[in-house]
Parts: sequence; structure tokens; C-alpha cells
Amino acid sequence: MNNAEPLEIYLEEQDLGRGLREDVRVGLGATPKWLPPKWFYDARGSELFEQITELPEYYPTRAERAVLAARAPQIAEATGAKTLIELGSGSSEKTRLLLDAFTRRSGLGSFVPLDVSVSALRQSTEQIAADYPGLRVRGIVGDFTRHLDRLPAGGRRLVVFLGGTVGNLLPPERATFLAAMRAGLEAGDWLLVGTDLVKDPRVVVPAYDDAAGVTAEFNRNVLRVVNRELGADFDPEAFRHVALWDPENEWIEMRLRAERRMRVRVLDLVVDFAAGEELRTEISAKFRPTGIAAELDAAGFCAEHFWTDPEDLFGVTLARAV
Ligand code: AVJ
Repeated sequence: MNNAEPLEIYLEEQDLGRGLREDVRVGLGATPKWLPPKWFYDARGSELFEQITELPEYYPTRAERAVLAARAPQIAEATGAKTLIELGSGSSEKTRLLLDAFTRRSGLGSFVPLDVSVSALRQSTEQIAADYPGLRVRGIVGDFTRHLDRLPAGGRRLVVFLGGTVGNLLPPERATFLAAMRAGLEAGDWLLVGTDLVKDPRVVVPAYDDAAGVTAEFNRNVLRVVNRELGADFDPEAFRHVALWDPENEWIEMRLRAERRMRVRVLDLVVDFAAGEELRTEISAKFRPTGIAAELDAAGFCAEHFWTDPEDLFGVTLARAV
């Protein structure tokens, strides 16, 4: 598959290790304790996430796919992009709907998926290169919060950020991210962003606390990553998965609750957990249409289209850099 170029690595093993050490030091030293969600995604975590997207309770993937299936031709037409860049691309499964529409229209030259997971990226770039022979596929191993100044130049660009992943950033991080995104683009480039929408918590909570326990395994996986990468001695089975709806912030919070008192050694730290103490591992913000448009506007984008699935579960916004 000669249209798949070698992965461009902006994030080396050692950067990942350094980042994890820093996050562990800061997050496990804080009160309350926390760890950032990007550390879920080693090979096993990426695989568990793929399983989550197929759970009956986890509606965002299906809802977003419905929007993309309905709107892909319009997105290709409106943007006329030459380069499609995908942030946090994972398997790029839904992105194929866009690639299909762009391919039918012709004009798309390259696809540039960026992800922290080498394993997910290697698989997706090879498969996509094989399935879209005319397309130049340039996979980038990188962190979308840090490598936005390295987006490839060349022709009109469309950056896609799907899955509601922008909701995993805290509001101030989100503002910084969107501003950095805008700084990496030229006026007239495009951003397509997927956001899960505010809805009845009786629908949202089960999506993050499924009956089969896949999300619980995914959540505990971060402890396995810290054990393996930093030689920590977490007992993942002694932590219980918690998914809470925060009505003020309108986000889901995933936590790991220590079922008993525990002392964990990691790096040169001794980290004590009281029985019942919780470690926050992820927020997943849910959005209102007006809020999304306002955040984009503040970052120098103009939201030109906002589409939802037939059940109004999930929103996809197409914004232009101004
Ligand atoms: C990475 C944004 C798609 O927040 O819904 C799934 C990750 N966490 N179940 C989300 C996740 C728990 C997910 N996204």
C-alpha cells in the first residue's frame, strides 16, 4: 500500500512516558485526585473503546454516524477541501463516510489522521490506504492538544474532530484548544466538530455505565497503563467504576472509587487512598447548540451549519475559520 506513508511521529515513547509521569505526579498529588483521559488509550484501551461504541447503551457513535451518513455529501460540497485532517482519529471508522463523499466528488488529495495511539493509527492508515487507492494517507502520532502547529499545509483544509472528544477537555482547556486550532489554520479553512448534546441523565448515565461492564473495564484500564508504564502497584480490581451526571456543569464524570484503604507506590510517590476515596478519570461534557456556536465564535470560527440525528442526541457543527 504505497499510498500510506510511514507514520510521522511527533510523540515518541519517551515523550509519552514523560507526559504520563508528569500527569501522575500532578494528578495523584492533588485533592481530589485525578488523571487525564488520554491515558486510557493503549492497545487494550483502544480496543475496549471500540467495544463501547457497539454497546446498546452507548448512543453517541451511532447518532454521530447517522448525522455523517446524511450530511457527508453536503460537507464535501460546502468545504471543497483538498486535505482532510482528523484529530483523535482512533479507528477512523465514521470518517470513511466523509472519505466516500469526498472521493465521489473528487479533489481530496490527502487524509491526515492524528492520534496518540500508534496501534490504532497503524491499523487505520493501512486499511484506509488500501481502500482509497488515490488518496495520500499521512498518519501522525501526536497529541491534539500539543501538535496543532504542525498541521500539514496545502490547499483548503478540513479538520474533523469527532466523537464528542472535545467534551473530554475542561472548559478552559477547550477554549485554549479551539484557539490553538484556529491559529494553526488559515481563514477559509474548515472545522467539523461532533458534540454530544444535553439530554435526560437517564439516557446519558447508562451510556457511561453499561450493563456488560465494558466501560468499567475501560475506566480501570488507566490503572493498568500506570502499572505497566511506571511500575506502579495499583490493584485495579479494588476500584469500582463510577459514572456521575453533574447537572451544574452538564457533564458526565467518570471516577474510580477505592473500595478499601490502599497504599499505592508509583515513581517515588506513596499515594494513599481512604476507603471510598475517588479518583476522577474523565469528564465528558454535553453541549447546547448555543454554547457550541459561542465557543467557536470566541475562538475565531463561524458556525455555518449545525446538524443533529433524528433523535437530537448528538450534534455536528461545520464551522469556517474567519
Ligand atoms: C472519547 C469522547 C468518544 O467521552 O464519550 C466513552 C470516551 N468514555 N465512554 C466519551 C468514553 C467513556 C468518549 N469519547
